[in-house]
Amino acid sequence: MTAPSPKATILGIKPYQAGKAKAAGFASPIKLSANENALGCSPLARAAYIEAANSLHLYPDPQGVALREAIALKHDLDPARIVLGAGSDEIFALVCQAYLSPGDNMVQPQFAFAAWAIAARAAGASVRSAPERDYHVDVDAILAEVDATTRVVFVANPSNPTGTLIPFAEIERLHRALPQNVVLVLDGAYAEFAEHRVDYEDGLRLARTAPNVVLTRTFSKLHGLAALRVGWGYAAAPIVDALNRIRLPFNTCTGGQIAAVAALKDEAFAVRSLAHVCEGLPPLERVLSRAGFRTLPSATNFVTALAPTSEDAQACERGLAVRGILVRGLANYDMANALRVTVGDAQQMRALEAALREIRP
Ligand SMILES: Cc1ncc(COP(=O)(O)O)c(C=O)c1O
Repeated sequence: MTAPSPKATILGIKPYQAGKAKAAGFASPIKLSANENALGCSPLARAAYIEAANSLHLYPDPQGVALREAIALKHDLDPARIVLGAGSDEIFALVCQAYLSPGDNMVQPQFAFAAWAIAARAAGASVRSAPERDYHVDVDAILAEVDATTRVVFVANPSNPTGTLIPFAEIERLHRALPQNVVLVLDGAYAEFAEHRVDYEDGLRLARTAPNVVLTRTFSKLHGLAALRVGWGYAAAPIVDALNRIRLPFNTCTGGQIAAVAALKDEAFAVRSLAHVCEGLPPLERVLSRAGFRTLPSATNFVTALAPTSEDAQACERGLAVRGILVRGLANYDMANALRVTVGDAQQMRALEAALREIRP
């Protein structure tokens, strides 16, 4: 008897690698590897989550009505067109399941968030990567990859793993040039960190009117609720209808839903988080530059920095880890000479600076 074997397309998928969380010999290492919120989360969200412990025996609201209404109020949206996911990761998976079949392709930029390709390949589609221009998304290169079998295009603005931003006019140009039967997913995981920048728009304006745009957002970054897995998408009604048909009924948990509602009400925490990142980026860039890295211009809560060689980057990642500091080496993103470092709190940033002075004097 032969053992069951998964579909060949599944075996071709490289599993997602999360940012490292453990450093040998350190009970609580300094974790700058997963772009988490250095300030934690809103105290209101935390209190709401604790309150949810009183109803652990009850299923969550399968429609997440209160959360969808709170998001709609905050962003001036139609709550019926919001779909909730277990993180925005799940929205990517739903879009791929709903719109990609074997023989189709998905197009993404060269340096792309790994979950997109996993979702596309899981649906049996192939993945095409469009070269970037000096670590910035290149709309013409994406369009050059699109053909009659393209069904989905993914772009994050600002982007991970590079942290860079392209003007919203470029996103609009991409959208105008795409065939209408292609779904354009605009991943806004880091949108809040870029909202104040010239030339930036989060894409909701486009998602309000376009029949083929899915805008995704997350509570994991600015709101610091990564553990609760709450994300959402906004799209035209027929797309939302398709996603809701395959969405598992209780995909977001009660604690996540009510903590996210509370987070949206806590404007003061969001303002503090944003200020912390805006103030923290320039010194982090300086520390990395002093250590001999070229920093990419970041519109996120992290800095991606290029070492002179891949060996330098890897030695530095190891040197930091033995000092209890975890950063993200980007070899699995085809950027073997790069490290990605989250803006941490003041103490963490001082420890990083001191360690880099030892490793790269
Ligand atoms: C570009 C990008 N999109 C989506 C996500 C995932 O967000 P979530 O926690 O909502 O699944 C991340 C997380 O790091 C990200 O970097």
